[in-house]
Amino acid sequence: MKKAIIIGATSGIGAALYKTLLKHHYRVGITGIDLTVVDAINDRSQKNLFAEFLDSRQGHTAEKIRGMTDRLEGLDLMVFCAGIGHLNLDQNYEVQNAANEINVLAFTEVADHSWRFFEEQGHGHFVSLSSIAGLFGYHKAPAYHAAKSYQINYLESLRQKAFHSGKPIYITDIRPGFVETAMTEGKKKFWPVSADKAAEQIYRHIEQHHDIGYVPGRWWLVAGILNLLPSWLRKRF
Ligand SMILES: NC(=O)c1ccc[n+]([C@@H]2O[C@H](COP(=O)([O-])OP(=O)(O)OC[C@H]3O[C@@H](n4cnc5c(N)ncnc54)[C@H](OP(=O)(O)O)[C@@H]3O)[C@@H](O)[C@H]2O)c1
Repeated sequence: MKKAIIIGATSGIGAALYKTLLKHHYRVGITGIDLTVVDAINDRSQKNLFAEFLDSRQGHTAEKIRGMTDRLEGLDLMVFCAGIGHLNLDQNYEVQNAANEINVLAFTEVADHSWRFFEEQGHGHFVSLSSIAGLFGYHKAPAYHAAKSYQINYLESLRQKAFHSGKPIYITDIRPGFVETAMTEGKKKFWPVSADKAAEQIYRHIEQHHDIGYVPGRWWLVAGILNLLPSWLRKRF
């Protein structure tokens, strides 16, 4: 039985993904920031699932992962799903930095911990949810777009490390477009998909060890077009 941890999975895409992994016979440890929800999940005593409280802004994320890995008695798959995606119209530093604490600092802590663990173990799979947003800057949410861009490049660097290691270590960058979760509630959405549908597609990308996975797949075309747009056009977004 494969063992997985998902950071940020008591709601949104992460919650849909843990249910998908359970369906496919994984043993899963998940984290959440709402203790009541964490307790409610544990009270249901679902086979092969446990939840733990983790607020990554408080640090100790790697320590928590070590404890969860011991509880699972191993780790094959680590998924970083946590993220904050506020609009920031007045360029408020506090707002930008709160998002950076998760999207940049916690992401880096989890990515580095996972890399070192899988490198020593000789195999493993690190998956992170970046976003189509990482492919362009956007004036209404500068920190979110920049952080997702950081994640995309960081994941590419880890993928190179994995390749040079010669070990079966896989790094998957999941780039969703619009998924119906709390993060996108009340926002205009283009090609939206449900969290369940997104989770099924993410699962397929994981099983096939894809380097990059667009969710849904047609965002691949948008990514290609974005790459070709000149800056005089991009500044009008
Ligand atoms: N929804 C979209 O359209 C979309 C598009 C592109 C990329 N993404 C990315 O997909 C990922 C999941 O997003 P979502 O749509 O599922 O959003 P969501 O419903 O708002 O979920 C955000 C996740 O981040 C976790 N989180 C927030 N603050 C945290 C903290 N301080 N410490 C640890 N975890 C924290 C939450 O944990 P809890 O489980 O406890 O709530 C939750 O699982 C994010 O990285 C997001 O950027 C989403």
